[in-house]
Amino acid sequence: MASADHLQRLARQQLESLRQAGITHLPKPQKKSPGQGKGSRSAPKTGALEPVPEDSPTIAPAASDRPLSRDDAIAALRVAQQEVSRCPLCVELAETRTQTVFGVGNPRARLCFLGEAPGADEDRQGEPFVGRAGQLLTKIIEACTLKREDVYILNVLKCRPPGNRTPLPHEVANCRGYLDRQLQIIQPEYICCLGSVAAQTLLETDVPISRLRGKFQQYRGIDVMCTYHPAYLLRNPAAKREVWEDMKRLMTAMGIKLP
Ligand code: URA
Repeated sequence: MASADHLQRLARQQLESLRQAGITHLPKPQKKSPGQGKGSRSAPKTGALEPVPEDSPTIAPAASDRPLSRDDAIAALRVAQQEVSRCPLCVELAETRTQTVFGVGNPRARLCFLGEAPGADEDRQGEPFVGRAGQLLTKIIEACTLKREDVYILNVLKCRPPGNRTPLPHEVANCRGYLDRQLQIIQPEYICCLGSVAAQTLLETDVPISRLRGKFQQYRGIDVMCTYHPAYLLRNPAAKREVWEDMKRLMTAMGIKLP
């Protein structure tokens, strides 16, 4: 059974996500009339709104969605990173990780690359995409005439799943708030999802990656290009051609000329 502390923490995280999404008021709970039993779904009679508590130390973007300054974005990401480093929500992952892997790059990046979860190298070094698949991602970024430091690189999960197994649905759900929060702070213009876990998680869909790739999708008003994961390319080099098509489409949209 969940402890009161645990429930309180979850409620606080939920409120914080709402506040970061610009939702500053919630409907006032209605007093039950004598006839209203448990589980009644009757609509509230008034539209009264109550302020979302602001007791979180997180520096969040204003409800106007004005981008944070570079310094404020760095500070907000640092606070989130500290919270992630202590996250106990996925018991198995918290017990087996060497460290959490938060994300790396430009806090004001126009483009974020979103992967699945840290592997063994990332778990050891605390940085996403530093193993073989990461080296291929770095080559893809450089082929786009960018540097790793220009973009922001993050994963759906911040902990390594044991044996690099696919993230479980409850792990994805537990980590989702951190992902939304990182993107809310960075406010990129574009997101590139690498592989089906990243694409399906961000877009909340079951559509296969082969159908999501190649055209822009939308996440909270941000243009999202989905493509194959670099680890898949290591096993299926023929798919590099499609990834390069996706990257060219993305670079054209970003106004970046390729040689
Ligand atoms: N694969 C991912 O999806 N993320 C990493 O950080 C490394 C490999």
